[in-house]
Amino acid sequence: MNNNNVIFRAFPGGTLRGAARVPGDKSISHRSIMLGSIAEGVTHVKGFLEAEDCLATMNAFRAMGVEIEGPVGGEVTVHGVGMHGLKAPEEPLYLGNSGTSMRLLSGLLAGQSFDAVLTGDASLTRRPMKRVTEPLRQMGAVIKTSPAGTAPLKIRGGGTLEGIHYDMPVASAQVKSCLLLAGLYADGETSVTEPAPTRDHTERMLTGFGYSVGREGNRISVRSGGTLQAADIDVPSDISSAAFFMVGAAIAEDADVTLLHVGVNPTRTGVIDILKLMGADIEVLNGRVVGGEPVADIRIRSSRLKGIQIPEELVPLAIDEFPVLFVAAACATGETRLSGAEELRVKESDRIQVMADGLQSLGVHAIATPDGMVIQPRPIKGGQVDSHGDHRIAMAFSIAALRASGPIYIKDCANVNTSFPSFVKLAKDLGLRINVLEGK
Ligand code: S3P
Repeated sequence: MNNNNVIFRAFPGGTLRGAARVPGDKSISHRSIMLGSIAEGVTHVKGFLEAEDCLATMNAFRAMGVEIEGPVGGEVTVHGVGMHGLKAPEEPLYLGNSGTSMRLLSGLLAGQSFDAVLTGDASLTRRPMKRVTEPLRQMGAVIKTSPAGTAPLKIRGGGTLEGIHYDMPVASAQVKSCLLLAGLYADGETSVTEPAPTRDHTERMLTGFGYSVGREGNRISVRSGGTLQAADIDVPSDISSAAFFMVGAAIAEDADVTLLHVGVNPTRTGVIDILKLMGADIEVLNGRVVGGEPVADIRIRSSRLKGIQIPEELVPLAIDEFPVLFVAAACATGETRLSGAEELRVKESDRIQVMADGLQSLGVHAIATPDGMVIQPRPIKGGQVDSHGDHRIAMAFSIAALRASGPIYIKDCANVNTSFPSFVKLAKDLGLRINVLEGK
């Protein structure tokens, strides 16, 4: 159980300087366990994110009989059991705070011969699951949810799934991946069309494991009947974690930070594009491809940011970075407007409301709209904000201290451990003046 009394205290001023390698990509780490488990042979993973969300995925597969060694220093060895080798878990699979674990596993488990129950913490059991249960039911899956369509998800195994074509109403990599994983077990072809490009790590990793994935325009398809062959995976650093220091370096005085070995898959780089549009001084250096994923070093220096209208097509490509991008907007000159981002309301918290409330209590003029926010920059004051147990909100407000006039106290920060357990240490190493207070 997480202690919800963990408070971060971030002092004003300071700057960020130096080079750092942030931990491994969360999305890729989850998928390395999932695909490694159903592959034939042994998958070695390097750079695995040792954080609560990915450990929840790992524990779920261990509970289904997969032997997994590690993580030790980011190294994990997964002894694949093949497409049909998973075993019935004895207990409900507890997935903590992790939406990716729950939505991807629901697809994979719909195609198994055994029953399973997926559950999670207070935030995860509030999040919408109909977006996966409805199309899975169209495929023939039998899944029970709460009356509100939320977890626990009770998934009945032993049936047969039929491939369908699904036109996704929301741009969601979790929904797409769920259906592709179910499609590995469904009769015939399963395909999805996405309304806008979303992260394509599942497609890339399936291909890397030797499984054929079709793509024509925005339609992605798989056929059942193949096998996955184990492959080594080198997980790049998570651009979503790097984003905190990218914004921090842009807003602080005299900052110069290089983030090393960052995943720059074009379905994830919206944060770079948005910061560039705001006038940030960012260089993407040493571009290379590691294990099928583009990687680069990112250098960012102090910049005079300006407010912008954020282009809607960039929203899915920066979906996890808005909490800290709102902080960048609060430090810019002129108004920033975001629209087309209603998905932010159903993340680990309602990120539109929680960020608007927090920014307002620090003196920034932040107006929540149904699908975004309007931010008029004001000098950031010190004060107290509540992260509502959302890791990315906690880290975003820590970064805001670089431009605040007094200390910022951030409540309910324990869930930073879900994606970036070393955040405080790394932030301190780069120059942020932050410490952790444990409440009673
Ligand atoms: C993820 C997809 C995104 C993202 C989440 C990770 C993934 O969610 O917000 O942090 O790994 O597929 P949605 O699919 O809900 O947009």
